[in-house]
Parts: sequence; structure tokens; C-alpha cells
Amino acid sequence: MTDDAEDGAASDRLRLNLFTMNAVEHVSVGSWRLPGDQSHRYSDREYWTDVARTAERGGFDAVFFADVRGIYDVFGGDRETAIEKAVQTPSNDPAYLIPAMAEVTDDIGFAVTKSTSYNHPYQLAREFSTLDHLTDGRVAFNVVTSYLESAAANLGYDDRLDHDERYDRADEFMDVLYALWEDSWEDDAVVRDEDAATFSDPEKVHGIDHEGEHFDVPGPHSAEPSPQRTPVLYQAGSSDRGREFAAEHAEAVFVSQPSDDAVVDYMADLRERAAAHGRDPDDLAFFPGIVPIVGETEAIAEAKHDAYRDAIDTEGVLALMSGFVDMDLSELDPDQELEHIETEAIQGVVNAFTSNDDRDWTVREVAEFAGLGTTSPVVVGTPEQVADVFEHWFHDVGVDGFNVKEVARPDSVRDFVDLVVPELRERGLLADPEGETLRESTFGRRGLPDDHPGSR
Ligand SMILES: Cc1cc2nc3c(=O)[nH]c(=O)nc-3n(C[C@H](O)[C@H](O)[C@H](O)COP(=O)(O)O)c2cc1C
Repeated sequence: MTDDAEDGAASDRLRLNLFTMNAVEHVSVGSWRLPGDQSHRYSDREYWTDVARTAERGGFDAVFFADVRGIYDVFGGDRETAIEKAVQTPSNDPAYLIPAMAEVTDDIGFAVTKSTSYNHPYQLAREFSTLDHLTDGRVAFNVVTSYLESAAANLGYDDRLDHDERYDRADEFMDVLYALWEDSWEDDAVVRDEDAATFSDPEKVHGIDHEGEHFDVPGPHSAEPSPQRTPVLYQAGSSDRGREFAAEHAEAVFVSQPSDDAVVDYMADLRERAAAHGRDPDDLAFFPGIVPIVGETEAIAEAKHDAYRDAIDTEGVLALMSGFVDMDLSELDPDQELEHIETEAIQGVVNAFTSNDDRDWTVREVAEFAGLGTTSPVVVGTPEQVADVFEHWFHDVGVDGFNVKEVARPDSVRDFVDLVVPELRERGLLADPEGETLRESTFGRRGLPDDHPGSR
């Protein structure tokens, strides 16, 4: 346990993100068949405005959208299972939902996943500035490097970039973004001086003159400064190279580790790496995923858990997991133990099932476990029992908050907000986020810290 954990959590209040996807299935494959499930309405704007209202009512900091490019075609060597089982396909771009969700809410933030491998930083900088303007500073950027080979071919590349090379490109990508967001337009560049017929002062709008290995971007940025300039930065790297990237750039890190001890070690490691990058290690916040299944009584919660388990589509789960680990799990005997590999895809998912001291996982066990939220712990019980687990992680392990994963949509989040949130509030763990922008309400600061590479 770290000193931080022994002293109590790094944050004064628990942070909550609702982890979701603009798709039928996200991380609980098969759940679209649950009675009353609404996930087939993912392309309906009203579904999402309702989600935003519910999450805001529950004091969530943000609705967090995962996103992928490409199709899960590793399992069985083809895309049939992914399409049949709606494995993150079909999906829509999450960014376009944000203005509609912002319109019906006041404070909640929105984290949008975008890939540094399949976008151009000049274009992406403009998209996030636009969203930051339209939401009055309520957006976050979840920086991913993308893991599906199938994305590369569709976007004009012969092959997916190698794992570490993707992070090298991402480093340069971030440099370009920081220059565009932070350095291109001075705060008072827009003067709107009608008498002088001057809208913006050209002396205060600068080119960035970036010439690098992957990008040449002269600038300037096309957007004037938005409330946050740089959106809040999330990241989820878990490999050695991924951790380096997160330690340098992330303000909040998505944790995917198999046990309390592993989470504690991961946080200590990232903080040490952040310090080596000249950053204050306490500026990093940590959010593990969690799958709460709650009922008014234990029996009700257990009954829901049983129904959710019955809905798991094992083949669909294996298609998802095969994409995550870049290994065709259809080729393995279901009773074979999963062995540790170094993957070109998501190392954290491999580690979750192969770095456990106290148990080994067979393919069948992985499929059963990962059917509800993939790698995150599933917590089943009454509001008090679920709140106990949240409190333990917050106070004893020292995490800052959680990415709450859904099974039934939108019942999972409604249950959580109606049953667990009052209990968390009662215990003084949860308070409504305060602050004009997402960064202010989640981290208590207006801009990036001075020692962050975006400020330097
Ligand atoms: C909890 C979690 C959530 C992730 N969400 C996404 C996502 O929505 N889209 C995506 O392309 N990658 C996602 N990733 C992948 C990571 O961003 C990263 O690209 C991947 O973990 C490879 O880096 P690593 O080997 O350092 O872990 C996620 C990873 C984790 C552990």
C-alpha cells in the first residue's frame, strides 16, 4: 500500500464517470437481449439525452465514451461473429452526441475517445476546440493509439503501426495539439474592435511551425481559445511504453489491473514515472472500471446478476477479447489456461488474466468473467454492500474515482443512481461536482498544471 493510500484517498470526494459507447454492445456482449434493454436505440438522440440527465442527477463527473476504429475480426479469422453479435459494431462517432447531451445538462462533462494513429492532430485540435466551445468547457479527450489491425486497412495504411511506434507517433501528436491549443492564440487575440475593423489581432495569433517525423504543421490553430484550451486528458496505457506515455501526458488514468495490490503497484509506478517527467505525481488521478449490480435486497441483486449472466453471449465475448489481445481465442481449447504473451494490442487485458498470483484463467473462465464488463470487478449486492466496495477502493486502495460500466442499458445506470448514489452521498463520499469547466470540477484547476508538457 502506498503512503497516499495509508493516508487516505488522494481526492476529497469520489469521482464518477459513466463508461459507455455509441454502439449496441460495449463491454457486456449479449446484454442487448435483456428484457427492456434499450441499447439498440444508440442511434437515437433521445436515448443519449436521457443518459446525460440521469448521470448528472447521480453526480457523475462525466459520461465517458469509448470508441474504436475497425472491426473485431481476429476471432475465427473473420468478422462474422462480431457482426452477428453486435461486438462494438455497429457504432457511431461519439463526438456528435456531445452538443445534444450538453444542451440538456448544466455541469456534467463528456470524455470522447479519439485515436492518435488514425487522425491528424490539426484536424483533431479543431474538433476538440469546437466541442469545448459548444459545451462551455466540459470535454475530455481519452487518448488512444488503437489496437485493431482492421482499422489500418480502411484508413489507407498497409499495416497497423507497431505497438511502441504508435506511442511514438502519439507523443508527437500531443506536441502538435499542445502547440495549437495552448500557444497559437493569445488570450486577448480576439479584440472585436469595430472602429478599427479588426476582429482578431494578427500579432497575437501565432504559427506553431511544427516539423517532425510524422507531422509538419505550420499553424496557426483555426479556433480561438476555448474555455479549457486543452481538454481534460485521459489515458489507459498499461504496457511499459503505454505507462510512459500516460505518465507524461495524462491527467487521469484508466486503471485495468486484476487486484488491489496490482492497482496500488500500478499507481505507484505511474506516479514515479510522472515525477521522472518533471510532473507533480499527485496531479495524476486514477479511475478503475467497476461493474455494480445492485438491488434493494441481496436476493434482488442476485436475481439480476443471474439474468445478466444468462444473457452473456460467450462467442461474442471471445470475439471481443480476441480483438483486445490480438489472439484468435477460437483456436484454443476452452479448458486451456491463458498464457502470458506480449501483445501488439491491449497489454493491460492480457495482464488482467495472466499476471494474477493467486489464480490461472482458462479460456472458458475468461469468457464467463469478461461477459460482464470485461476486465473489471463485478460487485453484486444491496446499496450498502456496493457502497462498501466503493469506499474500500477510495479510502484503502487510494483511487480517485471509478469508471462505472453498464450491463443493462439504461437500467444499470438508473439502478446505480437511484440506489447506490444516495448511499454514497449519505456517507459523505459523493458531492456534486463544482466548477465552471470539467477540469475545475474534477481536478480543481482551470488550466493544465505548470509542470505538464502542454504548459511547458
Ligand atoms: C480500460 C481500457 C479502456 C480502453 N478504451 C479504449 C477505447 O475506447 N478505444 C481504443 O481504441 N482503445 C482503448 N483502450 C486501449 C488503450 O488506449 C491502449 O491503446 C491499449 O491499452 C494499448 O496500450 P497498452 O498496451 O499500453 O495497454 C482501452 C484500454 C483500457 C485498459
